[in-house]
Amino acid sequence: MKHHKFERTLVIIKPDGVQRSLMGEIIKRYERAGLKLTAIKMTKATPKFIEKHYTLDPEWRRITGEKSIKGYLSKGLKPPSEDPFKITEVVLKYLVKYLTSGPIIVMIWQGAHAVAIIRKLTGGTEPLTSDVGTIRGDYVLDSYQMTDTDGRAVRNLVHASGSVKEAENEIKHWFDKKEIVDYKLVQEQILYDVNMDGILE
Ligand code: CMP
Repeated sequence: MKHHKFERTLVIIKPDGVQRSLMGEIIKRYERAGLKLTAIKMTKATPKFIEKHYTLDPEWRRITGEKSIKGYLSKGLKPPSEDPFKITEVVLKYLVKYLTSGPIIVMIWQGAHAVAIIRKLTGGTEPLTSDVGTIRGDYVLDSYQMTDTDGRAVRNLVHASGSVKEAENEIKHWFDKKEIVDYKLVQEQILYDVNMDGILE
């Protein structure tokens, strides 16, 4: 089995993150946790490319729909539909519009438990209920109620892969192998070396 330190995840700073000048702040949070940036680019995505990104996982429509139904119910609100697929059909249209509205930053982060650590630092989908201390909890204020009223996607600054498999599919979708840089960070010796050798002179 490959060592945990090789786990990778894909992160997108969405157009609102770029426009609100939060790129550095977001990168800083992942960087200071000990993760390693191995690819980064700014791009303007096409609608087709975004739709493909969100539907790489055949389960995405069901999971996203169920998650937003739960969000409504937990607040005592009636979801717009009981059918998760109906909800995601609309959400996908909103998402394509949102993610193509301006430049985005696409990144690969690597390190032990990269997927889970990045999701933890990023926070839950809906900023209204994202934990304090997370990127979505600290820097934005959107809610499902607001997006329903206005007919748009939740503005939550960042996308982060939901599982190792999803991450690997998303990385393939966004990056050529030659865009990814293999290198060692000196801090990895402290994070991963079993004996923390080589510190004392
Ligand atoms: P992300 O983590 O990129 O995954 C799917 C995105 O869809 C999510 O962030 C939100 O931006 C958006 N989203 C999810 N559920 C809803 C919803 N019910 N209404 C509007 N946008 C949503």
